[in-house]
Order: sequence, then structure tokens, then C-alpha cells
Amino acid sequence: MTEKAAKWIFWLGTLSSLVLFLVLTVDTHSQFAALTHADQLDEQVIAGKRAFEHYNCNDCHTILGFGGYYAPDLTRAYTRLGSDTIRRRLAAPDVAFADSYRKMPQQNLSEQEIADIVAFFRWVSEIDNHDWPPQHSEARWKRSTERLMAGAVLSPGAALINQEDCLTCHALGDRGEKIGGRLEWIGSRRNSAWIAEYLANPEAFAPGTEMPSFEHLSGEQRLMIGEFIVSLDTAEGR
Ligand code: HEC
Ligand code: HEC
Repeated sequence: MTEKAAKWIFWLGTLSSLVLFLVLTVDTHSQFAALTHADQLDEQVIAGKRAFEHYNCNDCHTILGFGGYYAPDLTRAYTRLGSDTIRRRLAAPDVAFADSYRKMPQQNLSEQEIADIVAFFRWVSEIDNHDWPPQHSEARWKRSTERLMAGAVLSPGAALINQEDCLTCHALGDRGEKIGGRLEWIGSRRNSAWIAEYLANPEAFAPGTEMPSFEHLSGEQRLMIGEFIVSLDTAEGR
């Protein structure tokens, strides 16, 4: 190859990459308002963002790719944990993480600040960032809805979850509410025996929680629920 040809290739390659980069950047920026649901940015969400900055939550937590790696990524915290779980963890991190090796400081947030931060997390969780971060992918979770429906026939635990209306507070796949934690996520941290015990007396584990007691179910039924929840995390295809 002559030197001239090499220079041509260099300049053409560089310039075309640059143009492509600029076009894609402009294109992405033009979609920001729609992808982030900017119209839903109300005062509470903004106050929540301010509180998040004020308390330097980013020192330990990452949100939308920005922040520390010491503590869990909070981009999808609302989807994963639900409003009441977040509220309770922020109000009393020393209680919520008492038996954890990592510590979240008690920063004495006011009730209002906590409510604002929950609103901020809800807004962030709805940003369409093409299903990122992937370990909390909604697309993955959606598949488990179908498994719940199939499982309701096959698994007694799934049938009990339907019967006891757990999804009035918990999300599973693309169903349910986000008050308590997403059931697929609970299974990644707890075993079935723990869940069975928790269901009998949530108050003992989480004082002041909205989670009702399911003491009326037998120990065996509670264990079957626990087994189903754990299977959501470990099952193939998640
Ligand atoms: C000094 C570091 C640090 C700071 C500052 C901090 N956190 Fe945390 N946070 C943690 C750790 C560590 C955990 C995880 C504890 C565990 O699971 O064992 C955590 C957990 C959480 C959780 C639960 C996440 C999950 O997936 O279970 C939420 C929500 C949260 N923090 C929100 C906040 C908010 C909001 C702020 C600011 C007001 C904040 N954190 C400030 C360290 C911190
Ligand atoms: C009225 C709302 C509500 C209903 C109904 C409900 N839950 Fe909950 N659940 C919650 C809330 C809120 C929490 C979070 C408590 C906390 O943050 O400590 C929770 C927590 C849990 C936890 C513990 C999560 C963890 O890792 O600490 C499990 C397991 C659970 N629920 C399972 C169930 C099952 C199974 C059913 C149905 C049999 C059910 N829940 C019905 C609201 C509800």
C-alpha cells in the first residue's frame, strides 16, 4: 500500500466514525424527554433527587451508571424492592441491615425526605434505559409471569401465592404491585425455610411492616410458598 492510500484510509475511517458518533449522539439526546418521561418530573421527584445529592448517597451507591460500587446499584431499586421496603430501609438502615457485613449509615432522614426519595427512585426506575442494568432486567422478569401461570397448575406454592393475593403488594413478572419486594428478587437472598418462618410473623423480622401475617397457613404450606419463591431465582431461563 502506498503512503497516500494509507492516509486516505485513515482520514476516511476517522471522519466517517466521527460523523456516525455525532449523529447517534444527537439522535439519543433528542429522545431524552421521551425515554425519561420528563413530563412526570414533578416537584416531589425533584425534591427526592436533591435529598439524594444532599446526603451523598452516590458515595456508596450507583444510579444510572454514576456513583460508588460499595453498595447496591439503585437504578432499579424501586422495581426490585418496592416502596414500603425502601421506606423502611431508609428509616432504619441499622435495623434493616443489622446482620449484614456491609453497613449503611443512619442519616436520620425525615419522613418527607424519605417519601421524596421513594418518588425519585420510582421515576428513575421508569426511565427507558434499554433494560439496564441487565441483572435487574424487566424482560427477564416478564418471562417469570408465564412461569407463574404454568406453575399455578404444577406447583402448590404458586397456587397459594395466587390464592392469598400476594400480588396485591408484590411484583412478579409484569404483574403485581411494587409495595413489597419483587418476588424473584426475594428468592435471590432468602431460603425457603426463612421465608416460611417470615410468613408466620413478619412483624418479628420487620417491625411496623405492612406485610400481613400468614399464620393461618400451615407450616407445610408456607414452606411450599418459600420453595416456589426460591425456584423463581434459581430456575432456568430467568
Ligand atoms: C456509607 C455508604 C452508604 C451511604 C452513604 C448510603 N448507603 Fe444505602 N446502602 C449501603 C449499603 C452497604 C447497603 C447494603 C446493605 C446490605 O444489603 O447488606 C445499602 C442499602 C441501601 C438500600 C437497599 C438496597 C437493596 O438492594 O437492598 C437502599 C434503598 C439505600 N441503601 C438507599 C440509600 C440512600 C437513599 C442513601 C442516601 C440518603 C444511602 N443509601 C446512603 C451503604 C450506603
Ligand atoms: C398488604 C401488602 C402485602 C401482602 C398482601 C403481602 N406482602 Fe409480603 N411484604 C410486604 C411488604 C411491605 C414487605 C416488606 C417488609 C420490609 O421491608 O421489611 C413484605 C415482605 C415480604 C417478604 C420478606 C422479604 C425480605 O427479603 O425481607 C416475603 C418473603 C414476603 N413478603 C412474601 C409474601 C407472600 C408469599 C405473600 C402472600 C402469601 C405476601 N408477601 C403478601 C407486603 C405484603
